[in-house]
Amino acid sequence: VAAGAVLGGCAVYGRKPEPAPAEQAGSDPGKVLAQTTDIPVGGGKVLDAAGIVITQPQQGTFKAFSATCTHQGCIVAEVKGGTINCPCHGSKFKVADGTVANGPAEKPLPPVTVTVDGTSIKRA
Ligand code: FES
Repeated sequence: VAAGAVLGGCAVYGRKPEPAPAEQAGSDPGKVLAQTTDIPVGGGKVLDAAGIVITQPQQGTFKAFSATCTHQGCIVAEVKGGTINCPCHGSKFKVADGTVANGPAEKPLPPVTVTVDGTSIKRA
């Protein structure tokens, strides 16, 4: 009746538990990134710590992208006027799909998969 398997620690992956508390930002599945109420409709929010920008192009539709500009790697600074804007050289990316609205960047922001669970937006 020993609970030996439990002592296996993080290598054990036999079940799907609730997300474990994780301090580091990044790619932790299930990590809550933001609340839906934090993300304005038609706009979005840059999550510096996670390196992600989350947008809500339409009510109830949430998208997430890498916050690293595809031009020279600055972190995008703000979401305004329907675009995700890079402060370094003025590139703008559309909130709907991360594609370039304004150069010099040529490539879209890579998408990040998120799920919405109630009012929590989580890393998928
Ligand atoms: S690094 Fe973003 S516009 Fe140049």
